[in-house]
Amino acid sequence: LASTEVDLSSVAVGQIVTVKWRGKPVFVRHRTPEEIKTSEDTPLAELPDPQPDSARVQKPEWLVVIGVCTHLGCIPTGKAGEYDGWFCPCHGSTYDVSGRIRSGPAPSNLEVPPYAFVSDKKIKIG
Ligand code: FES
Repeated sequence: LASTEVDLSSVAVGQIVTVKWRGKPVFVRHRTPEEIKTSEDTPLAELPDPQPDSARVQKPEWLVVIGVCTHLGCIPTGKAGEYDGWFCPCHGSTYDVSGRIRSGPAPSNLEVPPYAFVSDKKIKIG
């Protein structure tokens, strides 16, 4: 399938679901108000791959990222690591709640796939 639809109505606040898109995992995270605030308030100077949170989301509540570590392609574990975003068990890269690389060998942020909201509660990836 070239595109994947995700029904957001079943994803609770704070929850992450993993869907498949073109053979890759995609993480869809329903962020809490605290997670949104932390992501928006992070100084860009702290980021190895500086990108404002607003450039990575279409709606602050929903983070959609490809679940492939930008180091060597392992699948990071959610809600883990120092920044409570993702932790890659292979070589210890940590990502924040915006999917931005914060420490470890990965060179760049988790990639945001092309997607669109087809309704308030549904996105289409791809
Ligand atoms: Fe994730 Fe190496 S593949 S840190």
